[in-house]
Amino acid sequence: MGEDLKLVGASLSPHQTYGLENNWSRWEDEHAGQLAAIAPEKYGDLDVWPVIADQATDPDNYRSGDAVKHWERYEEDFALAAELGMTALRTGIAWERVQPSPGEIDEAALDDYRTYLETMHDYGLEPVVTLWHNSLPQWFAADGAWVRDDAAEHFSTYVDAVMDAVGDQVTYWVTLNEPMADLRKYGIVTSVADAIGGGPDVLPDGPANGRKENELLGYYPVRKRRVAANMADTHRAAYDIIHDHDPDAMVGTANTVARWWPPDAGPVQRMLGRIGAQWEYGGWVERTIDHIDFFGVNHYTVLDIDVALDMVVPGRETYEYSDMGWPLDYGSLADVIDWIGEKYDLPIIVTEHGVADHTDRKRQELVRQTMDDLEQLQDDHDLRGYLHWSLLDNFEWDKGFWPRWGLIAVDYDNNCERSPRESAEIYADRIQNL
Ligand code: BGC
Repeated sequence: MGEDLKLVGASLSPHQTYGLENNWSRWEDEHAGQLAAIAPEKYGDLDVWPVIADQATDPDNYRSGDAVKHWERYEEDFALAAELGMTALRTGIAWERVQPSPGEIDEAALDDYRTYLETMHDYGLEPVVTLWHNSLPQWFAADGAWVRDDAAEHFSTYVDAVMDAVGDQVTYWVTLNEPMADLRKYGIVTSVADAIGGGPDVLPDGPANGRKENELLGYYPVRKRRVAANMADTHRAAYDIIHDHDPDAMVGTANTVARWWPPDAGPVQRMLGRIGAQWEYGGWVERTIDHIDFFGVNHYTVLDIDVALDMVVPGRETYEYSDMGWPLDYGSLADVIDWIGEKYDLPIIVTEHGVADHTDRKRQELVRQTMDDLEQLQDDHDLRGYLHWSLLDNFEWDKGFWPRWGLIAVDYDNNCERSPRESAEIYADRIQNL
């Protein structure tokens, strides 16, 4: 412990930065109009509403298209990251691109990814590569997505091909991004919403997938358990394939870890909060703990749980809020890492951490506080990396383009021109000393 942080940089994902044909693009086409129509009701109370009202009520906001044109402009993006002093970039390979149909591997797509990763190395950036970041091939999603018991088999075909093509380019792999978020889609509320007709609250690859006629019940908890088992099998199979190709590879998943207790919590409240936080991601981690080389932390927000077991979304008197209305505590990442570091005997990589903030003021503060905390965290834990979400503004799933997550701003009215925000300059300045 106490070594220099090896991986310091930022994160992005394929569909969010270059848009693809997949289960999400199909869902976007079906729901863009509805999403625009309900925007005033959904986002009208946010402070950012006057700034985003036009964009959020325009159906085009909800179609990814070619997103922020990262595929066309990745060399420029790598150059910007390198100029900012980053040593690593978390990116992804898109399953839907590599395996366009069940029995087919697109070798040309793999060649493109090889060039992509080689270019990243040319800029001195260590790739951290995610194999599944929320979007799925349509053929896989149309017939049940993760409910399918052959999920691991199909994913293995894809991972094997990826390893043959680019395995030598990558040491750090994230098999699945936030599997627990997918499992939440099988919760009772979503299942009922789906049973009575779906709508924009039922996201892609949720319970509607593979639904058989007259099968209105049984999503929860039966399907949820199946999905959890299939995703865990998928992760384990991918882990083994990667290690067969490269025994030195570091393989993990990216796990949502919110802080469920206030910083001044007493022991009881802290314990309850940890039970809550573990419930959020825990079943998943425990299922795969023997197949994980590092714990990936995606951390964004805080919830408070009180001694009466009430879950409280903390008020504005306690925390600031992001543009998306998520409570923001500038120091909560340190609390979460302290906890994960004590609980699991594993190296930790912060795979995502950031804030949706069009003003950049909160992001600047978050970067400053995080850089202060990282120095101490490196001494106390086996922390291997910090990857800020996100390198660039991008397509924020069902919210579309209005949330601004980037260290680098994207000008959508001007061919997606990039310009580093002040937070990026602060980050560049501070990471030199890590
Ligand atoms: C996801 C990202 C997303 C970010 C902000 C994470 O849950 O991995 O894809 O953009 O949160 O919502």
